[in-house]
Amino acid sequence: MTTLEQAVAAASRARENAYAPYSGFQVGAAIKACDDSTFYVGCNVENASYGATICAERSAIVHMVSRRGKCPIEFIVVVTAADPPSVPCAICLQILAEFCSPETPIHLAHPTGVKRTLLLRELLPQPFVLV
Ligand code: THU
Repeated sequence: MTTLEQAVAAASRARENAYAPYSGFQVGAAIKACDDSTFYVGCNVENASYGATICAERSAIVHMVSRRGKCPIEFIVVVTAADPPSVPCAICLQILAEFCSPETPIHLAHPTGVKRTLLLRELLPQPFVLV
């Protein structure tokens, strides 16, 4: 199994834990850091107060930062059952922009494998930057 396939499997497992009773839309994410083999995974966690919902990508970032702080990211995998595969929402892209490089690959996948790969800069060309 390639590292990317392992990351898809890790994100798919996290997706199975998604708490999505309101939308029924389950999302899993996995972050591959550059210098370790751990996958920092996340899933969406919904709330009766809908706006309190946390997306899978943000949950994965919080997991990574909690475990080892900011570190260089090799790639991100997002797993859904959607066809065409879902792209991260704009809030998640802004969060990813805080920790990823513009060249970081974002792999959009089904549990069966990667369907499409885009760079962060293609998904969010102009992130907000505090100057
Ligand atoms: N969701 C994510 O987990 N990531 C995204 O980038 C977009 C949407 C979740 C939030 C909610 O639980 C469900 O998908 C439907 O919007």
